[in-house]
Amino acid sequence: MRLHIARLTLNNFRNHAALDLQLDARPVCLFGPNGAGKTNILEALTMLAPGRGLRSASLTDVARAGDDEMRAQPNLSQVWTVSARVAQDGEETVLGAGAERTPEGGVKRLARRDGQPATAAELADAARMTWLTPAMDRLWSGPAGDRRRFFDRLTLARATEHGQAAAAYERAMRERQRLLSDRVFDNAWLGGLEREMSAHGAAIAAARVETLHRLQDAIDARPDGAFPKALLALEGLLEARFERGAKSADVEEDFAELLRDVRGRDAGAGRALDGPHRSDLKARHAAKNMDADQCSTGEQKALLLGLTLAQARALANDPGAGPSLILIDEAAAHLDAVRRAALFEELLANPGQAWLTGTDENLFEAFGERAQMFEVRDGAVSGV
Ligand SMILES: Nc1ncnc2c1ncn2[C@@H]1O[C@H](COP(=O)(O)OP(=O)(O)OP(=O)(O)O)[C@@H](O)[C@H]1O
Ligand SMILES: [Mg+2]
Repeated sequence: MRLHIARLTLNNFRNHAALDLQLDARPVCLFGPNGAGKTNILEALTMLAPGRGLRSASLTDVARAGDDEMRAQPNLSQVWTVSARVAQDGEETVLGAGAERTPEGGVKRLARRDGQPATAAELADAARMTWLTPAMDRLWSGPAGDRRRFFDRLTLARATEHGQAAAAYERAMRERQRLLSDRVFDNAWLGGLEREMSAHGAAIAAARVETLHRLQDAIDARPDGAFPKALLALEGLLEARFERGAKSADVEEDFAELLRDVRGRDAGAGRALDGPHRSDLKARHAAKNMDADQCSTGEQKALLLGLTLAQARALANDPGAGPSLILIDEAAAHLDAVRRAALFEELLANPGQAWLTGTDENLFEAFGERAQMFEVRDGAVSGV
């Protein structure tokens, strides 16, 4: 089972007016000066995944600015598009993402699979991916929300229904909070919303716990190497129950009861203080027995890389998932030459294609002929 992008085309995506890359299955290395458009290419690929891509950008942010042709034709329907021909085991699927103008003058998101409208989950199913960017270097010492979102993306790559559960949970939580803020203590109405929160909340927590175990298994299956082993843990009310072997129905019932009991408190706080929207991911550097946020910058990066590689192995071993692409922006940042070479070997062993960026071609020397090199300059790409 192998997965790769055989062709990537971008139209009016950030600084890329029109890009057309023909590719084979080898890792794709993009090099060039700052501001050339390397990260933009990785970001374009992540627009095919659920969510808003690796910069969490809006549909209009990524549209190419300063395009005279676009301005001359304000009714041009396609604002920007990303299209990828995905090859897996001799079969090809064309995935498309983009934004289209609506008659009212707004923009709406487009998603296509083989020319037909598709859901985010259908796209994700055809091209699983995990990415790492320099912005994630502070993941272990930054806010819990960033780690939670990171972990939810890992969960989403395995269980595509996780996205719907999270959206439904958020909707019910917002509605409950609106009632509480307006002092509408309508027991039946609130109770209904709390039951929705607890059903979706339990599903979210159960999916996270399952992801954590699969990841930890993938980590533990390997001897300690260039990337330190992490000991992972989820901190969260419902996750802790599942970790202790509780049944889903009990977790749900108890959470609904708790929510009913804390209505007054949540009304005062202006938000729900308990639930899976408050959970956090913890990691320890196993060999040093040290919390990730106490590790050096390079060690934190190595932990994150190890986790990303473990995620790809866990997905590949999961009959419900499969191979996944690994995107690493500024792959060499914080890595010494030995770790960099080890990373390349791991990426070559992954059944999904790797995409890497760096300012200098020499950073990718250890790949030799085993990777395809492209130079990016001012939104144009040339093969090397
Ligand atoms: N919507 C947009 N329209 C046009 N250009 C954009 C848009 N958004 C960003 N850019 C430009 O795209 C350029 C390339 O950005 P990108 O982040 O891809 O560079 P990079 O090659 O990764 O550089 P670095 O090595 O510094 O990370 C930047 O100069 C930025 O100003
Ligand atoms: Mg960049």
